[in-house]
Amino acid sequence: MKPELIGFVHFDRPGSKNNQIEVLVAKEKASFFLRNKFIKIVNSFGGDKHFIGRIVEGPFFQPEEVSRDSALAQVSILHGEEFPAPPNFYATFIIEVIGELDGTRIISSGSRPSPQSKVLTLNDDELYSILGLEEGDMVIGNLEGYPNICIKFNSKKISVIPRNLGIFGTVGSGKTNTAQVLIEELANQQWAVLVLDIEGEYTMMNKPNDNPHEIEKLKRFGLTPSGLKDFNVLKLCNQESTVETAEEVTIKIDQIDPYVLAEILNTTEPQTAALMAIIDILKRKNKDLKQELDEEENVLTPGKKTKSMYTLDNIIETIDEHKSNPEKLGVRRGSLQPLRRKLISLRRSRAFDDPTAVSIRPDVLLKPGKVTVFDLSYTPDYEKNLLTAQLLSRIFEAKKKDKTRSLPKTAIFIEEAHTFVSRENKDKMFETIRMLKEIARRGRKRWLALCFISQQPSHLPNEIFELANTRIIHNIRSSKNLDVLRLSSGGVTEEMWNCVPTLDVGHAIINGPQFKNSLIAQIRFCKTKRVRQEDIE
Ligand SMILES: Nc1ncnc2c1ncn2[C@@H]1O[C@H](COP(=O)(O)OP(=O)(O)OP(=O)(O)O)[C@@H](O)[C@H]1O
Ligand SMILES: [Mg+2]
Repeated sequence: MKPELIGFVHFDRPGSKNNQIEVLVAKEKASFFLRNKFIKIVNSFGGDKHFIGRIVEGPFFQPEEVSRDSALAQVSILHGEEFPAPPNFYATFIIEVIGELDGTRIISSGSRPSPQSKVLTLNDDELYSILGLEEGDMVIGNLEGYPNICIKFNSKKISVIPRNLGIFGTVGSGKTNTAQVLIEELANQQWAVLVLDIEGEYTMMNKPNDNPHEIEKLKRFGLTPSGLKDFNVLKLCNQESTVETAEEVTIKIDQIDPYVLAEILNTTEPQTAALMAIIDILKRKNKDLKQELDEEENVLTPGKKTKSMYTLDNIIETIDEHKSNPEKLGVRRGSLQPLRRKLISLRRSRAFDDPTAVSIRPDVLLKPGKVTVFDLSYTPDYEKNLLTAQLLSRIFEAKKKDKTRSLPKTAIFIEEAHTFVSRENKDKMFETIRMLKEIARRGRKRWLALCFISQQPSHLPNEIFELANTRIIHNIRSSKNLDVLRLSSGGVTEEMWNCVPTLDVGHAIINGPQFKNSLIAQIRFCKTKRVRQEDIE
């Protein structure tokens, strides 16, 4: 398709912004102009420059020969029934100038289009190469306003998924659907995927999407509904699950870093000191077991691990043994009892050190194309966070030990990430954040990626934003939530941020290392089944 001339650049107003221009368009051509569409501007004076722009505001209509406030203009509108047509009119639009075209690349420009520069349509092929959308093997959706322009992530580039992802947006903006799409595509590319599912929303991904409207929309991408083949739902032992078939896992207390355990239990300093002293005693007592456990710990060797260095029960028993003389432990009197209470309440969930349930086994979970969902929908908060911490450290340890790189590329999705680490408890979660940072830093080389999902980005500590290099930002109306993203995301223009509160469901800004410019995408529907309320009841 040949580029079509659709309008011309107007003179500027005093106070015009560097990256914005106004375009005048005859009314017959105004219908091409839809917000967020891309256009090319051919400079009229001052050099043979081409600019690329995006329509951000308009159409605004003005009468051509008379002024808006003239009697003729007003009467023709006011008594519309007596006037067959209004006076001639035209449309104006505001264009965000994204940059100058250098071959097929957009580069930043030190200039602006001059008046009477031609404004032309861009065809799909041109847009593909200008926006750098040719590469990629994971179909995420299409460019907003362009049903035929696919947006694909590249699962094979170490600078994309392994630099971690963030999916943000208000309640019901489409985050879970987006995550499901990413999970499907990663599994299809033979990644192992683990999902920490707070609401039980991902538990039916082994079934095909059964929503007729969504199935119809999927056809546009040449996709049909299908469930995941290698799919497993796990739940913590003695807890309920959204699906009957969920298998039980237990949390091994000796597999959690004692400092992380203390942080998650929100212990005071004296209580932390007491917990460390007790764990030290238990480790010394069972030091003979260490060798044996280390051998079993070779996570790549199958074999159920049933022994522990110490269990939650052991910790409680040791507290009881020292109840009367805590000084012998070198801990403050009064610190043991509150610690004991916290541990007893943990024990009530019966999720810990259950010898009949399997523990987290990286060798079982990390298989190419396998998706494992941890259904935490009926799990209390402490247990949820302890399982998350244990899973992260077990997977990371396995990846570190995998010298021959025999484990598959791996992604871990963390729903409602702000309930795991938050800005509020950030100072107390030093060890947990340190662990996340280390995973993000050292995991990249080992193809271990994290995906944080949150409806409350303002509750997340800044460290998380620094880790999540690809961000998918759905509709956000709260300025508090928007501000934290705005401050931490480079390369998103003011004009694009202004779109966020009005993004439709399922539409999102994509900002990340794969694309030079931030894009607005319409995310596709997932091929797998979405859990609806009636599926649970
Ligand atoms: N890509 C999409 N295109 C069109 N509609 C969508 C899209 N994604 C989701 N929706 C619609 O929006 C609804 C909510 O989607 P979803 O559950 O993914 O949102 P969410 O942000 O995860 O919500 P919550 O905050 O409640 O977890 C879905 O039921 C679906 O109808
Ligand atoms: Mg959701």
